[in-house]
Amino acid sequence: MRKTKDMDWQSLGFQYMSCDKRYVSRFREGQWDEGSLTGDPSITLSECAGILQYCQECFEGLKAYETVNGDIVCFRPDLNAKRMAETAEFLCMPKFPEDRFIRAVDETVRANLEYVPPYGSGASLYIRPYMFASGPVIGVKPADEYMFRIIVMPVGPYFKGGAKPIAVMVSDYDRAAPHGTGHIKAGLNYAMSLHAHEIAKEAGYPENMFLDPREHKYVEESGGANFYFISGDGSTFITPKSGSILPSITRRSLVYVAEHMLGLKVEERPVEFAEISDFSECGLCGTAAVISPVGLVHDHGRDIIFGKGLEEPGPVTKELYEKLTGIQLGTVKAPEGWIHKIA
Ligand code: PLP
Ligand code: COI
Repeated sequence: MRKTKDMDWQSLGFQYMSCDKRYVSRFREGQWDEGSLTGDPSITLSECAGILQYCQECFEGLKAYETVNGDIVCFRPDLNAKRMAETAEFLCMPKFPEDRFIRAVDETVRANLEYVPPYGSGASLYIRPYMFASGPVIGVKPADEYMFRIIVMPVGPYFKGGAKPIAVMVSDYDRAAPHGTGHIKAGLNYAMSLHAHEIAKEAGYPENMFLDPREHKYVEESGGANFYFISGDGSTFITPKSGSILPSITRRSLVYVAEHMLGLKVEERPVEFAEISDFSECGLCGTAAVISPVGLVHDHGRDIIFGKGLEEPGPVTKELYEKLTGIQLGTVKAPEGWIHKIA
């Protein structure tokens, strides 16, 4: 039996917790050092570090699970490694090699195995790789030095209430510009969304629905997850296609699950906000959010309600959730290459 920390796993929310070890690698003089684990949760930085002045930073998010067989695994880490490399390139940062990214995730999880929540607890180990400019800059330019780090922490549901449907609010603000940074996982996008998020929270909505920044005509995504919809007749999985949303790994996986495991039609296309009232189900999908059913979209004094609203998720959402979490926890056969065994 694997030893685990003495914790009330069921009551975990989505919060920072300092675990025993974190991974650090530094980029200096044009190369990454070999990297190592450390017990020190603090960072000492130049007062003029690029991250502090011009926000040169990017990150990733993935999870480790204990499966039904007692293995510790994570879900498609190769796609996180690739997305982080693409994000880094866009932000003029050095790429952290994709094979090293996966090895560093493995090392960090293995060093914190006691924090991986037990199978059946509903919790998981959230893994947060991130990279930032540590070298000083004052003129606007990319820094010369960077740090890549990985922290981990056990987490429960991202939204209070777990699998219960949530209500979201259409935002008047944009999280990204038409030819900006919406498609990459840069911290600056999240700074952009905080103001809108506070407004939504004050109005009683845990998330926003952002519309396209050019016309406010199409659905984009929320502050931390992509959207999907189910057509009125239940036959089709529909998800917005846009150059200014994050290419969610969960969404790409659900597209496969919907088509190949549930026999649904799939449409990845621009989704007009005006058509969503025709749909029977709506959901948010992402690593932190997993699948969060959306029961209601609040649009300036008008509510669009899906199925049984906030009472319970629709039938397709339930099936998608069962399949996706089953794949992650080893109770449903995973498509080739989706599950990476760590321990
Ligand atoms: N969209 C945004 C803005 C996000 O922050 C996330 C979270 O990572 C997602 C979508 C979902 O992406 P993924 O499924 O790769 O976690
Ligand atoms: C994730 O799902 O991993 C994210 O990075 C989203 C964030 C809002 C927690």
